[in-house]
Amino acid sequence: MVNVLVVGSGGREHALSWKLSQSSKVEKVFTAPGNGGTANNISIDIDDISGLAEFAQKNNCFTVVGPEIPLAAGIVDKFNQMNLKIFGPSQKAAQLESSKIWAKNFMKRNGIQTARFEIFDDAKKAEEYVKSLDYSVVVKADGLASGKGVIVCNDTSEAIEAIDTILVKKTFGDAGNRIIVEERIDGIEASYIALCDGHTAIPMPSSQDHKRIFDNDKGPNTGGMGAYSPTPIIDNILAEKIQNQIINKTLQSMKNEGILFKGFLYAGVMIRDNEPYVLEYNVRMGDPECQPITMKMDFDLYDYLAASVNESLSQMPKIIWKTQSAICIVLASEGYPESYLTEEEITGFDLIPKDIMVFHAGTKKQNGKIFSNGGRVLGITALGDTLESAISNAYLAAEKIFWTHKYYRKDIGKKGLNRF
Ligand code: AMP
Ligand code: GLY
Repeated sequence: MVNVLVVGSGGREHALSWKLSQSSKVEKVFTAPGNGGTANNISIDIDDISGLAEFAQKNNCFTVVGPEIPLAAGIVDKFNQMNLKIFGPSQKAAQLESSKIWAKNFMKRNGIQTARFEIFDDAKKAEEYVKSLDYSVVVKADGLASGKGVIVCNDTSEAIEAIDTILVKKTFGDAGNRIIVEERIDGIEASYIALCDGHTAIPMPSSQDHKRIFDNDKGPNTGGMGAYSPTPIIDNILAEKIQNQIINKTLQSMKNEGILFKGFLYAGVMIRDNEPYVLEYNVRMGDPECQPITMKMDFDLYDYLAASVNESLSQMPKIIWKTQSAICIVLASEGYPESYLTEEEITGFDLIPKDIMVFHAGTKKQNGKIFSNGGRVLGITALGDTLESAISNAYLAAEKIFWTHKYYRKDIGKKGLNRF
């Protein structure tokens, strides 16, 4: 038996902790720092790599890293040096997410389909370039900016403003020392995630996030307001194309360049004319995508994460998924992604049917009560025989949870229904 340490505090980490605690090989799951829903919380921050390593060593833990920040900071390399078992990509492999420029150049030299682009560190030159183009662009800061360093532009003046925001005003700090100016691809976005061990990539069911704060994809981008899985946007033919031409090619090209990618490899793709373009890589599970995907798992997740670490995924039995659809509706604090109130008591948990999971994100527990403690607060995650029934199961439950400034989108999954 082994103990597990899950690093992170979001809905993704609650879902991973929940699933891993069901494993017959797992004794106890700790979460650092965790939230109001996770058990056995350890108050160590995600960027305190030495503190996490010390805890993992003392408690004989297999460590699972949720978010990108510790991965980009080299948590996996540090744990490996100490002979501690840890699931996730090395710092070098994490460059696929930590430097958008590194990722774009990697795709270019390996023939992985992505939007045309140029790189700049000089605002004047970037402005001249966008003036010379006859198509719309997206301007991206190179480094990690909590999903905020991307500005989708409608015309040249917006592009010039975006260049100014990132390169001159430095709104995203050093993450914006260099920028990418790339072609805007207008299509349908979906998430494709695979579990990798450096050599083999096992696909997770496809999913679709809802990034904007308001219904019908209006308002500013957020961390994600809900997701469902699988998505009909990615049919079997497209899935095969993404698996071969994006995921397997990424894994093989990384290997050719001397980097083994272990962990969840997430391709954010835009589908235009039935062709997938990589908008971004993430080197971890998506959040909220992780929540519906975890609900669909009908296998021992620990076995597969351990096989990723041991580079033995090709020897594992075929993964079994529940055939139902799954959906997660994010309940947020009104005002998110800008300012919002916290410390509001949340009630109604006892009214939720047993087969529906309420994964916690920005919550904390005090004297047995749950309080809001962040922008994205809860993820109501339900299965259904059809996407339609999953949606109605989740929304019925979402209505039962109460706090004063609860906000959620009413159209999660609708894009999938319109597709049938
Ligand atoms: P990223 O963090 O790179 O995924 O960008 C955030 C969001 O910006 C994506 O989820 C897309 O909605 C949008 N986006 C990024 N790149 C492009 C592109 N080339 N064309 C259109 N939309 C894009
Ligand atoms: N849901 C998108 C992300 O995790 O980055």
